[in-house]
Amino acid sequence: MTDTTSSPDLNRVLTGITTTGTPHLGNYVGAIKPAIAASQNDNTDSFLFLADYHAMIKSHEPDKIHQSSIEIAATWLALGLDIDKVTFYRQSDVPEIMELSWILTCWTAKGLMNRAHAYKASVQANEAASEDPDNGVTMGLFSYPVLMAADILMFNGKQIPVGRDQIQHVEMARDIAQRFNHHYGECFVLPEALVEDNVAVLQGLDGRKMSKSYNNTIPLFETEKKLKKSINKIKTNLLEPGEPKDPDTSTVFQIWKAFASEAQTADMRKQFQEGIAWGEAKKCLFELVNSELAEPRERYLELMADPAKMEGILLAGAEKARAVTAPKIQQVREAIGIRAMKTLP
Ligand code: TRP
Repeated sequence: MTDTTSSPDLNRVLTGITTTGTPHLGNYVGAIKPAIAASQNDNTDSFLFLADYHAMIKSHEPDKIHQSSIEIAATWLALGLDIDKVTFYRQSDVPEIMELSWILTCWTAKGLMNRAHAYKASVQANEAASEDPDNGVTMGLFSYPVLMAADILMFNGKQIPVGRDQIQHVEMARDIAQRFNHHYGECFVLPEALVEDNVAVLQGLDGRKMSKSYNNTIPLFETEKKLKKSINKIKTNLLEPGEPKDPDTSTVFQIWKAFASEAQTADMRKQFQEGIAWGEAKKCLFELVNSELAEPRERYLELMADPAKMEGILLAGAEKARAVTAPKIQQVREAIGIRAMKTLP
């Protein structure tokens, strides 16, 4: 079986962002910025989408899911996503993904899902609290790597830019694709996780990984005033001005590094060793981060004021996406024997 949907010369890059919460600096540095940069490359054919059905795994609050979808769409567009070049869509506008998800569910070993980090973490938390291991675990959480596999395989996504916590899921998608291909013949391209080595997993205000689940994030497009306030809240130690500080254990330095050039990073490292005051380091950090975000912030606010415009953009994106998924799901259905009754086997 040959893939008729993707040109062999183009590298198909695909990534999704779950529509819970407000985009923060960690999302920007770790996922959005590299994905947008990659999408500008002439040899790539990028598929970027709002993973709104993934949001249901974490949130049952309709208004929050809706609000987050709007904010995330505005964020990507404000940061310069070129919608003529990439395919930018909402997962829920492409029903073939859900269809494929079921088909892949029938090819996914339960044992494979038992090993998924997110599910295991829930079970461990329950055990630690002496609860039933499956307390609060929905089938959505348990089988979410299958939906993610469908997102990827539906489009023959080859390179999947993700954070480190998602590598396992891409490997699972690969595993599922291999089993399917082995049984039915080549149908899916085997995906690979793309984790940029020099992309940091940012620390949040409290020094743990910046994450909406820890409530320690710095929102990407909060007002200048709030951004300054947030940066001032970053936890530091009690070393006085003039005392040398360790850059490598400092969240302030770590965020600096994610926004700075190499020369600026080397310079800040030196300033830490020379005992820069925390207040001064934070002021520099604010200026650096703000200089990168000020312009896109303006565009973000304009987009947020015009959600109907974004709706139009997303529907046009879904149309482009479905030009890929409609023939692909036909190919898959044919392969598994869900066929029109025209001929006898
Ligand atoms: N699960 C990913 C996350 O939480 C988001 C996501 C959904 C995704 N589907 C995807 C990422 C497909 C890459 C490819 O970050």
